Amino acid sequence: MKCKVTNKIIDPFMSFGKMPVANGFIKKEDFRNEFFFNMEVGFSEEVSLFQLNDHPKPELMFNEKYPFFTSSSKFMTAHFKNFADYLTKNFINSNSKIIEIGSNDGTLLKNFKNLGIECVGFEPSKNVSDRANSSGIKTINKFFSSKNLSEAREFVGKTDLICASNVICHIPDLNDLIISIDKMLTKNGSFVFEEPYLGSMFEKVSYDQIYDEHIYIFSASSISKIFKLYDFELVDVLPQQTHGGSMRYIIKRKKRDKKSKNLIKILDNEKLRKLDVIESCVQFKKDCETSKIQLIKKINKLKDQNKSICGYAATSKSTTILNYCKIDNKTIKFICDTTPEKIGKFSPGMHIPVVDMKYFKNNITDAIYLFAWNHKEEIFKKENNLKVDWFSHVEL
Ligand code: TYD
Repeated sequence: MKCKVTNKIIDPFMSFGKMPVANGFIKKEDFRNEFFFNMEVGFSEEVSLFQLNDHPKPELMFNEKYPFFTSSSKFMTAHFKNFADYLTKNFINSNSKIIEIGSNDGTLLKNFKNLGIECVGFEPSKNVSDRANSSGIKTINKFFSSKNLSEAREFVGKTDLICASNVICHIPDLNDLIISIDKMLTKNGSFVFEEPYLGSMFEKVSYDQIYDEHIYIFSASSISKIFKLYDFELVDVLPQQTHGGSMRYIIKRKKRDKKSKNLIKILDNEKLRKLDVIESCVQFKKDCETSKIQLIKKINKLKDQNKSICGYAATSKSTTILNYCKIDNKTIKFICDTTPEKIGKFSPGMHIPVVDMKYFKNNITDAIYLFAWNHKEEIFKKENNLKVDWFSHVEL
């Protein structure tokens, strides 16, 4: 495989086997045409970048039916309000222009719009961008890429802040992304984004962060090295709790500014943990294999005790676990979820039915696999009367 940034050959260090599109919840009649790819991962030491090898064309994933609405999680809506407050305080003034990359249904931008600040979102999935536009948040239904920048002509070179949450790792061509950022930002502009963090994924062995949409899992070392290639620099980082452990990265044009204490601490810690070299990946591979064995053991034990099992939240992440560990609809009876676009369909690859919360409440099983383990607090608040055996691969 080739590193998507340096273009140099690297060896994949692990395969998770045949994988479907993670968010490709599917109807029975479409089972025969389901798309699969071999999910391999590699690591480029030159830019310390953890990355996916083969991946489906983005058009297959971010289309008119992208089944995820940011506003469906109360916790995420609150997180985006805090993120907006932080951005408002630190990077803009009342005359600033803001772009959000992958603005989904406008949950973050709404906060700026309420302050009267000029903003626009780029969102390739039609259903979510329609939702944003109908609530008055200007959203361009296209990828944020150099060929589409003229759609936001008045923002070219005049944007004080570009922000993004959990989307930069979806973008295969980082070269084009950074060139586009360069074109849109003012001289002192900032690019601030959050992504699931490699250090957290390794620590929790949360390999379910890896799926077709997540082409990269970043660290401060990788972001610092990649942006340096384009005369930008990473000036600060802020760890976040979202998505089971994320990192907020703050990028500016290179000015030989001092690195923040926080950044120095995190970079030192990454060196200590060898997150900047392939050794940590070799350990991660072993940890994934152990985790798979433990999960299968746990499930077999439940089966031996004749206990029924369902899944809670039909997440993209669950697609990796179910297909890597080959857990099918004979083991997990159904997965409940709140998203109308997923209900009545089947999970990608393993074809477990997705049901609504009413069905779940009427058919409580003995054990529940919490696929949205990253939303545990929010979910346990709602479901605290359910005294069943909750489990997930990150807490075995
Ligand atoms: P998330 O962890 O953001 O998933 P992904 O792995 O796809 O990024 O969780 C989103 C999914 O979880 C979405 O399908 C809605 C579902 N969900 C519920 O059904 N109930 C809940 O209380 C929460 C928080 C999420």
